[in-house]
Amino acid sequence: MLLSERAWQLLGALADGQFHAGDALARSLGISRPSVCKLVSGLETQGIVLHRIRGRGYRLPHVWQPLQAAVLLEGLGTVRDALTVEIRREVDSTNAELLRQAAQQARTGTVLVAEWQTAGRGRLGRRWVSGLGDALTFSLLWRFDAGLNALAGLSLAVGVAIVRALNTLGVHDAGLKWPNDVMTPQGKLAGILIEAQGDMLGPSAVVIGVGLNLRLPSLAALAQIEQPVSGLAQLHAALPRREIVLAALLRALVDVLQQFSREGFAQLGAEWQGCHVFQDRGVRVNLPDGRSISGIARGVMPGGELCLETAEGLRYLNSGEVGEQA
Ligand code: BTN
Repeated sequence: MLLSERAWQLLGALADGQFHAGDALARSLGISRPSVCKLVSGLETQGIVLHRIRGRGYRLPHVWQPLQAAVLLEGLGTVRDALTVEIRREVDSTNAELLRQAAQQARTGTVLVAEWQTAGRGRLGRRWVSGLGDALTFSLLWRFDAGLNALAGLSLAVGVAIVRALNTLGVHDAGLKWPNDVMTPQGKLAGILIEAQGDMLGPSAVVIGVGLNLRLPSLAALAQIEQPVSGLAQLHAALPRREIVLAALLRALVDVLQQFSREGFAQLGAEWQGCHVFQDRGVRVNLPDGRSISGIARGVMPGGELCLETAEGLRYLNSGEVGEQA
């Protein structure tokens, strides 16, 4: 469910991260005190975390500085012309919305960024949860002349782009877990969800969705996440504005997508492997059919498959969830 205009006004009033008394909020919004309580409860039901202390009022856990298009466009530099960027306050899922726009002929390079997703999608049918202002959640539409069958390895290439971008921001201890989770020693930093439209023979369109944690999600959000997670702020002493991080990600993505269009994944395989957190280590892979398989992760193939050395020989996996062998 989307938030009401009043709810956004309340969030705007709380954006400074300071406590605001219910009475003062009621006055500034021109509503009654009980209406403020109702708005707060509604926000909490939607998953927005607010702190409340009797006698002090309400606050957001952190300062929330809404994304500014001008700052982002400035940061994009030379890739600015390749992109059409829209920043929305809220949407169900940036991937879902861009897929709808793709069906309406939206141009390649369309970017949709959301402050808040009401139904963020993760891989394997999971949900993607992040707190207001705690993450970057965006999608990029990219069209290829080639068909879907030429896009093998694309999701791994996108992982390479994210790691490259993090390097340019001075973050060097991020790696990749197959196929494309961006990991730090503390846990998952970013997830990538690629959804495609088109024919096997072409042309095709993909929506590349990225969720990158800047801060650790709140305890309430953490309870909904099944694995350890990390935030960029843990790795970066002076994190730049969110727009600057987003601009770095988009620049790297455009670069890698252009390279992928020309050469496919094969030329990026060595770089992916250089970032592989489980390279030459024992892993256990949970397969989509419920079985699991153990072996040594030997890297990736030109088509993006994970190469696993098992007791029965080499296996090449197209899907599955990789974890360290216990
Ligand atoms: C994963 O499960 O690791 C993939 C998570 C992808 C989340 C991002 S957030 C922006 C975009 N919109 C979505 O609904 N999902 C992706």
